[in-house]
Amino acid sequence: MASQSVPEPPKAAHEVLPKTKVKTTWPSVPPNADRTPIRTERLLIRPFDAADVDAVFELRQQPEVMLWTSFGTIDKEIEESRVFVERFLPPKDTETFNFVVVYLGDDDKSENADANGVVIGLGGAHKTRPHLGWPEVGYMFRKEYWNRGFASEFLQAFNKAWWALPRNEVEIEVPVASLLKTGTEENDGNVTQAPEILTAIIEERNIGSRRVLEKAGFKEFRKWTEPDSRAGFEGLDAALVAFLLTAPES
Ligand SMILES: CC(C)(COP(=O)(O)OP(=O)(O)OC[C@H]1O[C@@H](n2cnc3c(N)ncnc32)[C@H](O)[C@@H]1OP(=O)(O)O)[C@@H](O)C(=O)NCCC(=O)NCCS
Repeated sequence: MASQSVPEPPKAAHEVLPKTKVKTTWPSVPPNADRTPIRTERLLIRPFDAADVDAVFELRQQPEVMLWTSFGTIDKEIEESRVFVERFLPPKDTETFNFVVVYLGDDDKSENADANGVVIGLGGAHKTRPHLGWPEVGYMFRKEYWNRGFASEFLQAFNKAWWALPRNEVEIEVPVASLLKTGTEENDGNVTQAPEILTAIIEERNIGSRRVLEKAGFKEFRKWTEPDSRAGFEGLDAALVAFLLTAPES
C-alpha cells in the first residue's frame, strides 16, 4: 500500500503479474543536505532529521493512521520509529525522496516559521524496492489534521519537486498493465521505450487517499487482491488499487 511502514513487511504471495523490460528514466535523488525545503501556502516540506523521531513516534502511535499502512499496526516502542527515520537519513537518504511535513499555521508567512511549526505528516517516494518496479509515493498524516486539504497540498507540491529532479536513462522490469495508459512505444525487438511514471497503491476502502491521488492527477490502472499483510488481518485478502501519474507536459 502507499504507506510508511517499518520494517518493510514480508511480501505476501502476490498474483503473477505479466511484466516486461522497458527503457525509461529514473530520478537522481539529492542527499538531504542538498535539498531545498518546499514551502506551500500552509506547509513546510523538508528532509528528515534525527530529531524528528519523537514526532514520528507520535504519528505512528495512532492506530487510525497505521491501519492504512501495509504493516497495519502502531509502533509500540520509540526504537521502531527510530529505525523508520534512519531509512531517510544519511547514508541512506539518496535511496528515497521522503519528507517530513510541518504545518506552519494558516497565517504564518515568516521566514523562520519552521521553529513554531508542528510535524503533521510524512510523505514522498519512500520505498527502495517499490512494489510495481516504478517509483511509489506514500503519505500519512496525524488524524487531528485530516480533511483540511493538507495531504493534497503536500502531494501537489511533492509532485512538482519530483518531476523537476535530474534523470538518468535506465532499463527496468515493470508490469505490462502500467504501460497501457502512457503512450508507450515498441522498439528494438522486445525492449520498449516507456515514459516514466510515479505510482501509488491504496487499499480499496481508503476513499480519502483515493481522493488525494485523483485531485493530484493520478489515474487508476489496476485492481487486484492479495493476502492482507496487516497485523490483525491474517488469512484475509486485501483489495488493492494502483494509480499512476505521468510527467507534466513541458
Ligand atoms: C489519506 C490521508 C493521507 C488523507 O489526508 P487528508 O489531509 O485528510 O487529505 P485531504 O484533506 O487533502 O483530502 C481528503 C479528501 O478525501 C475526502 N474524504 C476523506 N474521507 C472520506 C470518506 N470516507 N468518504 C468520502 N470522501 C472522503 C475528503 O473530503 C477530501 O476530499 P475533498 O477535498 O474533495 O473534500 C489521511 O487520512 C491519512 O493519513 N490516513 C492514514 C494513512 C493513509 O491512509 N495513507 C495513505 C495510504 S494509501
